[in-house]
Amino acid sequence: MFIKKSRILSVLLVLLVFCIFVLLLVPFNLHSMSSAKTQHTDQPLIIAHRGASGYAPENTLAAIDLAMKSDAQMIEIDVHLSKDGHVIVIHDKTVDRTTNGSGAIKEMTLDELQQLDAGSWFDEKFAGERLPTLQEVMKRINGEKKLLIEIKSGIKAYPGIDRKVAEAVLEANALDWCIVQSFDTPTLKQINDQWPQITLHKLIVFKFRWLPLAFDGGITSFSNKKYDFAEAINPHYRFVNRRFVRNRQNAGLKVNVWGGKAPDSYEKIRHIPVDGWITDFPNLH
Ligand code: G3P
Ligand code: CA
Repeated sequence: MFIKKSRILSVLLVLLVFCIFVLLLVPFNLHSMSSAKTQHTDQPLIIAHRGASGYAPENTLAAIDLAMKSDAQMIEIDVHLSKDGHVIVIHDKTVDRTTNGSGAIKEMTLDELQQLDAGSWFDEKFAGERLPTLQEVMKRINGEKKLLIEIKSGIKAYPGIDRKVAEAVLEANALDWCIVQSFDTPTLKQINDQWPQITLHKLIVFKFRWLPLAFDGGITSFSNKKYDFAEAINPHYRFVNRRFVRNRQNAGLKVNVWGGKAPDSYEKIRHIPVDGWITDFPNLH
């Protein structure tokens, strides 16, 4: 009898923990979809993710060129630092997934990196695409669209990457069209301390409902004030609702969502008045 009772208690406890977990993690937009269906009229800014990466190998000049011909007003890229201190445009910290080579970016020189084929993995017709530098991408965009530069791994992994990126923006006189974003708060803070004229965005994955916590690499406390160096907070699209967006906007922050991997990813959150969609599939002209 005693064993039975304790079993029932254990099952109830597991159920309770599961329910709490689901309540905290269920995508916020499920709730907001049922509560507020009004379409907002302002069109979100279209931000081409890793270039127009749905159509061309991510973070290459081919993807940038397609994004330039799309309806995106802004283009997002990711950067790492090479062994000889060049800012390389690539998403992963190794070249393994998106080139025909292998190894860590920080262990390779620019010359070694630019000998790799960064296009064939996506489609043979892109064979010969190279890993571009930040400066090469900036030259290609040349202020005709905005550029959102994501520092993937921060100053701990790459001491000095803050300065390299800031100098590229300042030397190109590109303050009005370049923005720096990162999940890494210390990196953004350091940039803000030294170059407050650079526009910054704070990336997060999600904020727990009701709790002042967000996931941005680890669980950290969230407050608008904590991120007051940023122009925008950029969360995963599955974790935004109308209240989250309005609260940030009332505090003077913008909200751009990311994570939409399919052309119609953002259809279900059309009613939420976010400021921007970071998408692999901007419309091509
Ligand atoms: O712009 C935000 C988004 O790019 C973050 O995710 O992994 O695609 O860089 P990831
Ligand atoms: Ca990115």
